[in-house]
Formats: sequence, C-alpha cells, structure tokens
Amino acid sequence: MQKRFLLGALSLSAALTLTACASNNEGMDSNRMHHEASMESGEDMNQGGMGDMMDHGNVPSLLSSEGTNELPIPPLLEKQQGQDYDYEVIAQEGITEFFKGISTETYGYNGDLLGPTLKIEEGKSVDVKITNELDESTTFHWHGLEVASEIDGGPSDEIQPGESRIVTLQADQPAATLWYHPHVHEMTAEQVYRGLSGMLLIDSSNSEDSTIPNKYGVNDIPLIFQDRLFDEDKQLDYDNLMDEDGTLGDISMINGTLNSKLTITEPIMRFRLLNGSNARNYTFSLSNGASFTQIASDGSLLDEPVEVEELILAASERAEILIDFSKLTSEESLALVNDEGVELLPFDVELDASTADSTEMWTTEEPFLSQEEKEMPVEKNIELFGMMDMVTINGKKFDPNRIDLRQKQGVTEVWEVYNKKDMMGGMIHPFHVHGTQFKVISRDGKEVTPREQGLKDSVLVNPGEKVKLLVTFPEKGVYVFHCHILEHEDGGMMGQIEVY
Ligand code: C2O
Ligand code: CU
Ligand code: CU
Repeated sequence: MQKRFLLGALSLSAALTLTACASNNEGMDSNRMHHEASMESGEDMNQGGMGDMMDHGNVPSLLSSEGTNELPIPPLLEKQQGQDYDYEVIAQEGITEFFKGISTETYGYNGDLLGPTLKIEEGKSVDVKITNELDESTTFHWHGLEVASEIDGGPSDEIQPGESRIVTLQADQPAATLWYHPHVHEMTAEQVYRGLSGMLLIDSSNSEDSTIPNKYGVNDIPLIFQDRLFDEDKQLDYDNLMDEDGTLGDISMINGTLNSKLTITEPIMRFRLLNGSNARNYTFSLSNGASFTQIASDGSLLDEPVEVEELILAASERAEILIDFSKLTSEESLALVNDEGVELLPFDVELDASTADSTEMWTTEEPFLSQEEKEMPVEKNIELFGMMDMVTINGKKFDPNRIDLRQKQGVTEVWEVYNKKDMMGGMIHPFHVHGTQFKVISRDGKEVTPREQGLKDSVLVNPGEKVKLLVTFPEKGVYVFHCHILEHEDGGMMGQIEVY
C-alpha cells in the first residue's frame, strides 16, 4: 500500500476518481440468473415429472423493515480474569422474543441467540474455552481463520453435550471480518438456523496507520444478515421448515432482530456485512442509488477501495463498506435495500452539522496478481453439480473417511471451480475452503474486478461459470471444502483435502 488519499468531507473528489465498474460486471450481477431454466442438460426429462420440487425459482421476497427497533450490536466478548484461558464461548439453548409476547426457542453462544463478537488482534493468539451446553453434539468452526486442522472445528471435531475444550486461536493473517458457527456433520444448517453464529474480527486498529473507522458499535458496525421462515407457532422448527435446496425465509433478521433501523451519528460509517443466512443471496444497495465504498472482502482489505452501487454476497461471504452520510441532505430518507428495493436497514441520520470527518484511503501500485500467478496451470478441478439432496462435488458426496484432494503445505496451486448447470439451469453455489484465504484469479477467463481483489475464503460461483482460485495452505492437516448453502453442505456437497 502506498499512495494515500482521503475519503470524507475533506476530500471527496479523490475517492470518486476510483470509480470502478463492479456494478456492470456480469459475473457479480447475475444472481438474477438464478431462476433461468435453460433445460440444457434436461431435455430428456418429461415435463410432468419435474414438479415443483425441482424448481430453483421459489425465492420468497423479504418483508421490508418497519424500522421499529434500534439495531442491537452484538457485545464484544469479554476477556476472562483469573482463568487459564482468555475467552469462553458456550453453545446453549435460549428463548428469544422476535414477536411481541411470543417465546421462540433458539440457540445462542453465551446467550439466547447469536453470539458475542470475538476480537483478536492481528498477530496475537488467544485461548478460547469452548463448551457445549446443548443436548446434541456441536463443533466450533472459525470461518476464515487459518488455523491448524485440529482446532478448525470441522465435522470431525465434535464436542459432545456437557463437554469443553480449550483451543488456541492464532491470528496470523491480515485484519478481516470472519465469523464462527457450528459445523457438525449433517446438522450444521439446523444449528445455524436456530441461532448459532457470531462475528470474529481480526483487528489491526492499534497499528498507527489505521484511520478507517474502528469504534466498535459506534462507527464500526457488524451487520449479520439472515433470513428466517417461522412456523405458525412462530418457532424455528427446522425439520418442518427446511428445504433441501437451501432454507429461505421471508423475514429479514439483522443481528438477530426483526424490523431494525440504525441511528447514524458519525459522518463516515464502516459496516461489516456478513451474509449469515443458510442459502439466500443478498444484493445490497442504497435506497437513493448513491454509491458507497467497498474496502474489504472476506479475508483482507481490498487492494484499493472501490466505489460500488451494489454489492452481492452469497451465503458466508463478507464485505466491509464505508458510507459517507455527510453527503446526504437531512430530509432524504435512506436505507440499505436489496435488489427488490426491500428496505433491510433504514437509517436515521442525526448528524451534527459541525461534524466533519475523513478517512485515509490507499492505493496499491503492485498488481493484485503477478504475471506469473496469472499464468500458473490449473492443478485441481472442482465440479459443483446438482440440487436438492443430489448435490455433489466431482460426482461424489461427502465421506469423512475419504481424502479427495492433497496439496503440499505452503505450495500455491490453481484450483478451477466449475459450477455445472443442472436441468433447471443451475443455481449459485458459494464455494468455501477451510484453512486458507485464497485469491480469485478469474471468472470464465476474465480477470476479476477490483471488488474481488482481496483475500477470500468463500466465492460465489454462477451457474455454468468457471472460477480460478490461487490457493495456499499455511498449515498441515485435513480440511473440508464445500458449498456454503448449508443444506447442500449437510447434503454432502463437501470434500476433504489433506495438506501434507
Ligand atoms: Cu462457514 Cu465450512 O464453513
Ligand atoms: Cu469455514
Ligand atoms: Cu450449493
């Protein structure tokens, strides 16, 4: 990172010169393709037999937020005093009142729903005691953290009811917005659906050069987006609600709350967006059409901040954005909306006229990928295919006793991930790899836009698309890779790689 410029009241023009064309990028824009049935490979299917069940098209619209609840901020996990560990995370059952006067049974970490935010300073390590107080086994997976496979919390890492363990989490990677959630074999989707998820931040705000807003809960706001379907009794009865192709709901939840709004008191706000839903893709934009600045992808800052008008996140993806509220007139109402114009998060802008703020931004002179990296041959081919419970990777379903791929520790390889269309035209699969932060090289041979030029651990792969990744594993061990539509993952759209 070299040249710097300012975003904010002091110098807006510089930020605007960086206008990139992320919103024109076909690759990123095509979640609308989700429902296009091309019938390519299914011409021989008789129509009567297709039925409703095989249609990818039933994505229920979300209801707009009524803005009646101030958005809650997940508390920061507090450091333990006088213990032989730094933090404690307990998976437990709880009761949440989503609807007035109605108790919904939920799961949470250290509480009734979701979990506190665990912040680890870049380069530091912390000991975390993980405890399972549920009636069923669970795991604690640190999504995006490059940890040894023994503590990765993958499906082979179950913690039985009543058991505890201490894990050492080492944050040897750039500052980023990561998250944690269970990963227990065939029960991940249900446990997440009931409420187990939390944010995990690698933080470098103590380093002198950080002028990005970093007052947690003030101008640095975590936003966990999840959609939920409740049954008639307003319960999250997963067995009855689940859809093998990804459970979708009409209720939008942010940080575990319905109908939220956010009061803005600082001109430049940083939002850490996590798509924590089981399956839904979110396309975010501002209701007035204004652009905002994306600064980070899943696993790092972007090479350069990029102005975007919309942003799509598939399940498990994250992005950090800055919104400059000082540019708005106070009468203008503003909300974060999705591609249907549904208000996800209305803002109540209450800026003091005297507040001026600025954020130092950066540009990078080195290219995101070297020529050498761009020309590396493909070493691994991954084919994602299928739908409902017939999902596979390279034609196979997950088998905990099978190693699907092998790669040498510290050696960089190119993976080509192909989302093969099915008879209904296919659907987006978010492809996720444990134990690594990779770079996306290209989509169908085209170099990715600036908004994907940062480290990633999950990548949206459109139907029919081939995405090339540059993958290195810093640690040895056995890791899983899978589709992050949680029902696909539980349905076997997952494999294992041995890093040796
Ligand atoms: Cu978010 Cu395999 O995990
Ligand atoms: Cu993960
Ligand atoms: Cu999938």
